[in-house]
Amino acid sequence: MSDPYFQQLFADRIGGANYGKGTEIYKFEKIKRAKRKALADHPERKLIDFGIGENDEMAPESVRQVMAAEINKTENRGYADNGVATFKEAVARFMQRMFGVTLDPATEVNHCIGSKTALAMMPACFINPGDVTLMTVPGYPVAGTHTRYYGGEVFRLPLLAENDFFPDFDKIPEDVLRRTKLLVINYPNSPTGKVATKEFYAKVVEFAKKHNIVVIQDAAHTVLTFEGEPLSFLSVPGAKDVGVEIHSLSKGFDMIGWRIGWVCGNPLLVQAFSDVKDNCDSGQFIAIQNAAAAALDDESIPGRTKAKYERRLKKLVEMLKRCGFECEMPGGTYFLYAKSPKGIAGGPKFDSGEAASQYLITEHSICTVPWDDAGAFLRFSVTYVAADEAAEDALMAETESRLKEIQLEF
Ligand SMILES: Cc1ncc(COP(=O)(O)O)c(C=O)c1O
Repeated sequence: MSDPYFQQLFADRIGGANYGKGTEIYKFEKIKRAKRKALADHPERKLIDFGIGENDEMAPESVRQVMAAEINKTENRGYADNGVATFKEAVARFMQRMFGVTLDPATEVNHCIGSKTALAMMPACFINPGDVTLMTVPGYPVAGTHTRYYGGEVFRLPLLAENDFFPDFDKIPEDVLRRTKLLVINYPNSPTGKVATKEFYAKVVEFAKKHNIVVIQDAAHTVLTFEGEPLSFLSVPGAKDVGVEIHSLSKGFDMIGWRIGWVCGNPLLVQAFSDVKDNCDSGQFIAIQNAAAAALDDESIPGRTKAKYERRLKKLVEMLKRCGFECEMPGGTYFLYAKSPKGIAGGPKFDSGEAASQYLITEHSICTVPWDDAGAFLRFSVTYVAADEAAEDALMAETESRLKEIQLEF
């Protein structure tokens, strides 16, 4: 079949005239295919899924009830544009309560349709062709993708165990630093599970001021902080002069599909984000914003989600240790990032996390997500579906028996 006339028209940023013709299969598609194969080849074997990074529960009933009422209000029907005061004010109360951070809801907060969209839009505020965004890897790549869309470059900062999963700013070449406009960090970090410290954030502020860089701290997982108290970048002196923090109700409030989060911090940065956003969308449905405001005001919700995923992670860590994995309780997120096995005693060897992950899915129906950007690692998510603690324990027991039988080598 011949190409349509528009085959030649695709922009270079998505592959140009070769768009849609590549044979490269992306990581998550490979996982999906391996899962399908495991289910087809071994229908008798339950697929144990540590791959999905999505909350397993619905939003709390109290929040759904507010939503049910808000959906019937005439005044909520229209374009929400840059958001309603109810939500911004609830954000300001939440930031004060959780982190001791004071924000002006009118100028220092703006909602977003999930933090993903905010990460996609921030580069539009700063990146001209040739400008650089510093991105930590492994990590959530969206801000980097959009930096490239605008003709910018991404400089990768590896998060290594030997650096305690913090980026090493001293390794950035002078030429890159001169062209750098954005630094994107993410704590609690996905997938490493590392939480930030005040000292690290103070270093980030100093680095940003010294090199005239804007900081975007992605706090999508912040409610799921197990080590110490949840920490906001904005609670560190000087942070509001250099950056913004992006939050989300997806993970901490079981509201992943509702698509609601916010950008907060420096008012001029929030304004620039709002201007770009205003040219991309017309705001989240006001009923959702109002239900999210009610969620933010309910102190019991973050505590509940955190307790559940902390409990599940503890069980997972103990079980994996008994199977030979070298791992410890993450400081935050619902992910465990563990060194990938090197092979099987008397069996295949793995040259990457991806090879190990493919083997575990296809041969043993255990799904994980590989990360090979900075060493070979496997990510285990504890968002698996289990009705109660007994079901969690049964899942751990089943995983343990399968893993012990295969005798992994590290
Ligand atoms: C580190 C990180 N940032 C941002 C997001 C996006 O979250 P949302 O758009 O649901 O707020 C995710 C979701 O997986 C994430 O893991």
